[in-house]
Amino acid sequence: MAYKRTEITPGEIERQRDICARIRETYLARGIRPLAMVDTFGCQQNEADSEKLRGYLAEMGFGFTDDSARADFVILNTCAVREHAEQRVLGNVGALTHTKAANPDQIIAVCGCMVQQKHMAEKLKRSYPIVDLVFGPHELWRFPELYQDVLTRHRRVFAIDPSDGAVAEGIPLQRDKGVKAWLSIMYGCNNFCTYCIVPYVRGRERSRKPEDVVAEAKALIAAGYKDITLLGQNVNSYGKDLAEPVDFADLLRMVNDLEGDFVLRFMTSHPKDATEKLFRTMAECEKCAHHLHLPVQSGNSRILKAMNRSYTREKYLAQVALARQYMPDLVLTTDIIVGFPGETDEEFNDTLTLVDEVRYDAMFTFIYSKRVGTPAASMPDPYSRADKQVHFDKLVELSNTISAEKHAAYEGTRQRVLIDGADGRGEWKLTARTKGGRLVHLQGDEGLVGQFVYVDITGSNTWSLYGEITTG
Ligand code: 5AD
Ligand code: SF4
Repeated sequence: MAYKRTEITPGEIERQRDICARIRETYLARGIRPLAMVDTFGCQQNEADSEKLRGYLAEMGFGFTDDSARADFVILNTCAVREHAEQRVLGNVGALTHTKAANPDQIIAVCGCMVQQKHMAEKLKRSYPIVDLVFGPHELWRFPELYQDVLTRHRRVFAIDPSDGAVAEGIPLQRDKGVKAWLSIMYGCNNFCTYCIVPYVRGRERSRKPEDVVAEAKALIAAGYKDITLLGQNVNSYGKDLAEPVDFADLLRMVNDLEGDFVLRFMTSHPKDATEKLFRTMAECEKCAHHLHLPVQSGNSRILKAMNRSYTREKYLAQVALARQYMPDLVLTTDIIVGFPGETDEEFNDTLTLVDEVRYDAMFTFIYSKRVGTPAASMPDPYSRADKQVHFDKLVELSNTISAEKHAAYEGTRQRVLIDGADGRGEWKLTARTKGGRLVHLQGDEGLVGQFVYVDITGSNTWSLYGEITTG
């Protein structure tokens, strides 16, 4: 597949930032401190995109609110992976009719993956006249220009042309304060799993240059972030589109070698091309969490083929065994789709036996959702939603049992954890993560947030661990 790498020039991003500065001056001259609300749906990639939206908005002089009634500008950054997410977005857009009625100057934008689908953009155009601005993931880098168009031309703006996507450096970012940071290393996906909409809405795989990733990681560490997650739809493809010979394992090592006390994570890894070199690198890099999110999707080789996953059950199990050989303490998580078109009882049963064999620390389970334009959408799908729900419930029950057993095995152990939050319930105010990413509830002072401490694990359940900070 021929894809020409497109880079947005620094001059273009400068132009966007100049627009931000002009918008800011206009608000200042009118004595207005405008408020924006950015509501994010879906995955971490979308969270990372919202940080860019907020970065631009801050440069335009916006403050932020979570209250849509108070916001001058509401932006919904949407997801298209499953129908449920889309329905939630449409419900939220509908609810904004009231806020806009109370404040007719309120501007409403809908962006992200959902609107990159033509039928969804059409629906917003036709049925949701309160929406002023619609733009897909490919247009995010020129969001200031699009907003300016809405302000100055007093018309609705739709920017959703199909595109393979580009790489844009230098967009300002406003990250959540705290100890955890997302760091996008690549965008898009080339895998075309037959159920998935992502390759159609996020374009082809394109990697950021290693020096840009490393510089951003360095800045994050200097700013006090202690838990850094490298993000991509399939990080194992990192570097394939770059001129220089660099792969994901190389990049991981470069970030690991930066000075500072931090934990390095990444997601997501496609099982078809996770390499031995990656597992070895993870084992050798002292800051790298021994955690793999390795979505299996199904335990049956016929279904995997129909999904276009490019591996069999056996190959997947071999990958897991190899990873565990390098990291006996590996925390393994996965995604599974139940009810792919035509999945029989027996085929589903293969998923159960695989889960039983692998024993994941945690799983994200989904019922198949038909996505317009994907190959799976035209496959015969004879089983009812109720049948699929029965399978789904069985899988969740098994997953919960295993997670609880895995968590129970931590009791009595001592773990080094990073305290990352102080808004837990009751006495268990502090939250922390083990290096493998398991959630630990702790008692203690808020001032400890951002610190690495040792804890003795004293209790557990399906979802998390409980511990005591040790002084010894
Ligand atoms: N239906 C259900 N789940 C899906 N996923 C992706 N597309 C679909 C779909 N059409 C799940 C996959 C993927 C995760 C992010 O979402 O399990 O790994
Ligand atoms: Fe979707 Fe497959 Fe790409 Fe993941 S690897 S984003 S499931 S097409």
